[in-house]
Amino acid sequence: MGEIQKMETIRNGLKNTVMAGLLAAAAGFGFSASALAEGDDKDAHEAAVMELVVKKGIPIPPDYIESLFKIPNAFGEGAACVICHSSNDPKKAYRGLDLSSCQGLLKGSMEAPVRKVVIPGKPKAGFLRRFLRNNRMPLGVAFDYPTNTENILAVKKWIDDGAKDSNHFEQKILPLFAQRNAFGTEHTCVECHMSNQEPPSFHELNMSSYKGIMLGADAVAKAAEGKPPVKIVIPGDSANSKLYQRLVENRMPAGVDPGENRNHPNLQILLSWIKQGAKCK
Ligand code: HEC
Ligand code: HEC
Repeated sequence: MGEIQKMETIRNGLKNTVMAGLLAAAAGFGFSASALAEGDDKDAHEAAVMELVVKKGIPIPPDYIESLFKIPNAFGEGAACVICHSSNDPKKAYRGLDLSSCQGLLKGSMEAPVRKVVIPGKPKAGFLRRFLRNNRMPLGVAFDYPTNTENILAVKKWIDDGAKDSNHFEQKILPLFAQRNAFGTEHTCVECHMSNQEPPSFHELNMSSYKGIMLGADAVAKAAEGKPPVKIVIPGDSANSKLYQRLVENRMPAGVDPGENRNHPNLQILLSWIKQGAKCK
């Protein structure tokens, strides 16, 4: 079966957000869960861009970067970025983010909290990469599911209060990760993040215990590289905790199918341009 058909199968599995379908597809077509999580099942376009452009450090023309925000489907099926982000006035554009020019992109979001979305030279920092790659959780949740529900705010408060292993955590917070419809879909966090073993657990993340949550993601894979796990909770700091970010931040373009390639070739080109200094001329 071809690469494209494989991705289609995975996409359709995700479209229905049926985990069973996803895993059956994965098993049936030799597609590993980690490929979805890491995006290492490269399609041919991604492979070509990585080999011929990114690895070689080919200079990226700013005109190309500007054009990406003006066309639909540039980073996965969906409306062009400029439809929703073409002014610094928050009444006219979400987050007061103007992506209609290179200067606007570098200026960043002008609605409070005012922030840069691109940090020249640092492709992994800034909000742009985060919003183009990270799917909101639980995977498949609707883009318009509110971000201030009682349950989401309870998780936020628990983190901001120091993320303690208290009775409150055991009785009120931990059960949410195993509860259907706690965060906008019938899928529970522990269905997909149940142990430190991937597959079946995406990102080797175990959301079923305090220990697992505090250990974080990719403990085994990172250990093999001599690195610590990826923390998902930073006590006292919900804004920088991936656990909270993943509950409230929608991947862009808003409404994009979570099965779309998280390492889209145009995203790789954009990151290369940022690494090269994000110059507008
Ligand atoms: C249909 C409307 C829509 C489209 C299209 C869209 N966005 Fe957004 N974007 C939003 C909304 C609404 C938010 C506010 C946060 C949220 O809903 O998660 C947002 C937030 C963002 C943020 C976070 C900025 C911050 O300071 O919090 C970034 C970055 C972003 N969008 C980039 C993009 C890019 C790049 C594209 C094109 C691939 C895009 N958006 C397409 C509606 C859209
Ligand atoms: C249907 C499966 C599925 C469900 C349900 C699910 N996740 Fe995920 N999760 C994933 C996948 C796949 C990834 C990695 C790829 C991505 O970002 O889309 C991921 C990534 C994450 C990450 C990022 C880990 C890292 O290394 O940065 C966090 C945090 C996370 N999920 C938390 C949650 C929480 C909290 C819930 C419940 C509200 C949840 N997930 C429900 C599949 C799922």
